[in-house]
Amino acid sequence: MYAVILHGGQGTRLRPLTHTGPKQLIKVAGKPVSQWVLEQIRDAGIKDVILVLGDNTPKKVVDYYGDGSPFGVNITYVYQGEARGLADAVYKVKEVVSGKFLVYLGDNLVPYDLRKFISFKGSASILLANVDNPNRFGVAVLKEGRVVKLVEKPKEPISTLALVGVYAFTEEIFDVIEGLKPSWRGELEITDAIQSLIDEGKEVDYEIVQGWWKDTGTPKDILEANSFLLDRYAERKIEGEVKGSTVDGRVIIEKGAVIENSVVRGPAFIGKGSKVINSYIGPFTSIGDSSEVIDSEVEYSVILDGVRIRGVSLMDSLIGNNSTVERGKKWQKLIVGENSTVII
Ligand code: G1P
Repeated sequence: MYAVILHGGQGTRLRPLTHTGPKQLIKVAGKPVSQWVLEQIRDAGIKDVILVLGDNTPKKVVDYYGDGSPFGVNITYVYQGEARGLADAVYKVKEVVSGKFLVYLGDNLVPYDLRKFISFKGSASILLANVDNPNRFGVAVLKEGRVVKLVEKPKEPISTLALVGVYAFTEEIFDVIEGLKPSWRGELEITDAIQSLIDEGKEVDYEIVQGWWKDTGTPKDILEANSFLLDRYAERKIEGEVKGSTVDGRVIIEKGAVIENSVVRGPAFIGKGSKVINSYIGPFTSIGDSSEVIDSEVEYSVILDGVRIRGVSLMDSLIGNNSTVERGKKWQKLIVGENSTVII
């Protein structure tokens, strides 16, 4: 069985981070969002993975995942080219897959055992979850235990059961995608394709996810995903060097990292080659690779790779690769990308 991870989209709500890379490669709890997805798929027993790449720096994705062997999977890359919607992205794998296949949006995190889900009986299967804001999603209407209707971004409150971005299909999906017309937002919607299966009298199975899941579309989502994943998966593992410091609880300190004269409280992640000196790293914080935190306090934050932080106290912050955040002597000097937030 193949699994298809969709890796396209512009990630506009995550700018400026997505000016230089796809949203799915933003690291939470030490790994890109799509790596959490890929490992979940692998752990469900699927070894053949197709990554469908969009037009936002696809080379970065290929450079990171390669042929998949370091991650225990075989990866085939398919280029979507111009983004025309999720159904268009799925159609791009028509020549590669055979039989049943799984489709997972690479910016969604749904920690759920996929084994039962992928052994579905009908023409397709969808994962659903109850949400408070169904108008942000595609939703499904159930009647007598069957999926009877699907609507993308419903204006009327017809259901609170949202499609969570994990689907399983048979090759029948390709025929219905061929008949789709673009939606009001100009996209070929996968929700409409599944509706076409229902219109043809085909069976669409479903499962309802209980508990946490996330569509990581905004900085707030990234911080929440980071906290959840640290809380759920972080186990104490100290491979770096700890000097004159207190490291409390479930903290991962990777090789080559140095913690000096500091306090680190878990759950937290400190990536390889990073330095934490005279600082406090609070719970639910991830620091990427080769970053420096000096004379600072950082809590409930995601600091990515190659970042320099000096003399500041940060909370609820998301700092992009190779950025510097430093206290000025008198003036604050800022070089800030578009759509950024700075609170001083
Ligand atoms: C897409 C799908 C939607 C689904 C959502 C899950 O929405 O179109 O049906 O509920 O992903 O994250 P989009 O992210 O394109 O707004």
